[in-house]
Amino acid sequence: MADWQMAWNEIWALINIKSGDKVLDIGVGEEARSTKKLVELGAVVTAVDKDESRIALHKSLSATLIQCDASSLPFSDGYFDLAMAFATLHEIDPRSHRRVTREMVRVAKRLAIVESAPWGNPEAKAVGDIARRAYESMGSFEQRRPLGYWMGLLPPGVKVRSHAFTVKQHLDKKDVLKAAQKEGWPRECISQIKALVFGGDYDNKVFLILGSG
Ligand SMILES: C[S@@+](CC[C@H](N)C(=O)[O-])C[C@H]1O[C@@H](n2cnc3c(N)ncnc32)[C@H](O)[C@@H]1O
Repeated sequence: MADWQMAWNEIWALINIKSGDKVLDIGVGEEARSTKKLVELGAVVTAVDKDESRIALHKSLSATLIQCDASSLPFSDGYFDLAMAFATLHEIDPRSHRRVTREMVRVAKRLAIVESAPWGNPEAKAVGDIARRAYESMGSFEQRRPLGYWMGLLPPGVKVRSHAFTVKQHLDKKDVLKAAQKEGWPRECISQIKALVFGGDYDNKVFLILGSG
């Protein structure tokens, strides 16, 4: 099992950003890991998020940050060298997945999608299922899907390559409960997490899908 840092380095090497590339990053998120990495690699970065508060957190980055829904991108056809969704699609309403990936293909010459596969381990899967129900009840999404699901969203004619990495992911009950309280999960979901026995390192599969027109 590789550690995440090794997989992270390999993923970025395969994405192969060149200094000056015009890159669209879908989903800034709380930590803006992908946006920061793109800036560090010398890309000319535009990053979007539908949540204004996520944009506000990262105003100091050397990137153009725009609040919008990724299912309707305010950019012209082929404007970007690359459109990326780094650990973002699983948080987007599944009814928009096809629309979002078509928009990525429309606005860029290449695309890169990074996503985690569904948990293979029963303990971790039980935690993931509770998290998914908690988010759904709060109107958000947290849905891991198999590789074939994401590949199936891309229009015919896109040349696709995929890579898979098995990485170690640590699940600590105290951390999960802390996050659940902070995010305001329903009480019933918090009780279910409390009743579960879990903790430690689990195999997590991460996919990288690269596409070009
Ligand atoms: C897990 S975060 C992204 C992580 C980030 N790429 C990183 O590497 O740190 C997912 C983000 O997608 C945003 N999001 C969810 N649905 C969206 C949509 N329809 N359009 C744009 N952003 C969306 C959420 O607000 C959230 O900030």
